[in-house]
Amino acid sequence: MACHCQCDSSSQHDERYQKLNQVIANYRGKPGALIPVLHQAQQIFGYLPKDVQIMIADGLNLPLSEVYGVLTFYSLFTTKPRGKYTIGVCMGTACYVKGAAQILQELQKQLDVEVGGTTRDGLFSLTVTRCLGACGLAPVLTIGDDVYGRLTVEKIEGILDNYRPGEEH
Ligand code: FES
Repeated sequence: MACHCQCDSSSQHDERYQKLNQVIANYRGKPGALIPVLHQAQQIFGYLPKDVQIMIADGLNLPLSEVYGVLTFYSLFTTKPRGKYTIGVCMGTACYVKGAAQILQELQKQLDVEVGGTTRDGLFSLTVTRCLGACGLAPVLTIGDDVYGRLTVEKIEGILDNYRPGEEH
C-alpha cells in the first residue's frame, strides 16, 4: 500500500529515491527528458517536493529554475502533497452542460481551496478531470474510487461529510 506520510526517513522513501535515480538514468542525455521524468517522479512520490526537483535538475544537468518553471507551467504537476482523499470534478462536456462549474465552485467554497489545492487539514485535494465515462449520471465527481452522480449543489456537504473524521466511510 502506498505511504501517505510526509517523513523522509523510512526505507520506503529510500526505495522511492532509488527508483527516481533509475528514471533519471534512463532519460539522461535524451532530448525532451524533463517532462517524462517529472511525470514519473510524481507517480513515485505523489507530488514534487524541493529535494526531488533538485535531484532531477542535478541528474539531467539542468538549472533548478528550468525544472521549477516547467512544473509550475503544467497544471498536472503539483509541488504539494495530496490530501487523504482526491476529489475529481468531471469537466467533460456532458457534466459541464449539467452544471459542473457550479459544483466546482461550491466545493471551492466549502473546502476553501482552489483547484489543485489541498485543504488545511490535509483531508481533501481538489482536482478536475476529463470525461469519466459516466455521462448519463452528469454532473459527476469522484472521491478516491467512489463515484457520485446527478449532483446538485445541495448534495455536496453531505457527500463531504462521509469522509470527515467521526463519519467513518
Ligand atoms: S462528461 Fe462527465 S462523465 Fe462524461
